[in-house]
Amino acid sequence: MIEKARSFIECMYGMSVPAFFITNRKLFIMPEEIQDTQKIFHDEVARIKTLSEAELLKVKYLGRTGVVSELMKVIPKLPVDKRASYGKQINALKDEISKILADHINRLSLEKKSSYKKEVFDVTLPGKLPCIGKKHPLTQTIADIKDVFARLGFEVVFGPEVESEYYNFDALNIPSDHPSRTDFDTFYIKEDVLLRSQTSTVQIRIMEKQKPPIRIIAPGIVYRPDTVDARHSFMFHQVEGLLVDEGVSFADLKGTLYQFIKSYFGENVQMRFRPSFFPFTEPSAEVDISCSLCSGKGCSVCSYSGWVEILGAGMVDPNVFEAVHYDAEKYTGFAFGMGVERVTMLKYGIDDIRLFYENDMRFLSQF
Ligand code: PHE
Repeated sequence: MIEKARSFIECMYGMSVPAFFITNRKLFIMPEEIQDTQKIFHDEVARIKTLSEAELLKVKYLGRTGVVSELMKVIPKLPVDKRASYGKQINALKDEISKILADHINRLSLEKKSSYKKEVFDVTLPGKLPCIGKKHPLTQTIADIKDVFARLGFEVVFGPEVESEYYNFDALNIPSDHPSRTDFDTFYIKEDVLLRSQTSTVQIRIMEKQKPPIRIIAPGIVYRPDTVDARHSFMFHQVEGLLVDEGVSFADLKGTLYQFIKSYFGENVQMRFRPSFFPFTEPSAEVDISCSLCSGKGCSVCSYSGWVEILGAGMVDPNVFEAVHYDAEKYTGFAFGMGVERVTMLKYGIDDIRLFYENDMRFLSQF
């Protein structure tokens, strides 16, 4: 302990310790040592320029193993009658050091703050733009489709991706021997449990719960065991539409899709209806638009026909109404289902569906 005190004081004062007398293993400290400490402290304080220097000095003098506490450790070694007076002097020195350092630290930290203000708030400097990301092109297309149909009074609804045969086929008037039911065309999880192959399932789920009038669109993912290539994927997105009310006609279907196509693809795009067949609509149609890549002149995307199919549609089959206990004599309706990847590819001239799923920023950042 004595050796520690001696080497500490030596280190502090930069000299040997003539003022220490080691007698009978007792250490005597002269009052001058306190005064010298005070003097050295004042010299050091006078040289402080920065906040961190002031903070370092605080640690040096007032820290747990600092100068003052080392001076205090000496007290128990002093003769009993000297202890009180040394203790008092050391405490007075400690108070003085604390106050002076606190004043310096306050002043220097205020100065530092005000210098920040001067430097940081240069309003003429251009700001740093944070990278906030953006919507995936398919999410953006779904949002654009929603926007158009919201203006026509359609509500957005969702249904499950894992479905039963009833919702994917039976209730949609798809006969039990229909080829789309085989596992060449549908992913089965187990008997009667499958990944939906179309969003038409949501038509049934909504009609079961609500009475007409119905006006919904249902965006979502569907699954089909197709081999992946530039045009096909085992998973893609559809937006289903359904409108049911009294007196709904095929003209309403045409007018609604006309509005959508003009709003989404632009005024110059032409549309055409081709007769088709779906078990859940009668009559049924497939709807084409003039190829936006070649403006109808003919290119590889439209197989040189000038037209590209974008959706299937038709008037809701009375058998579907029967499945959901709607009065088919009273209500009529139309439904449509469009491929989200397909319309996005046509709008932006994308020639490979796989690009949507690769998460390649070079592709995604273009939208
Ligand atoms: N569900 C059909 C498909 O996936 C599309 C469709 C929906 C057709 C609604 C008619 C009516 O191909």
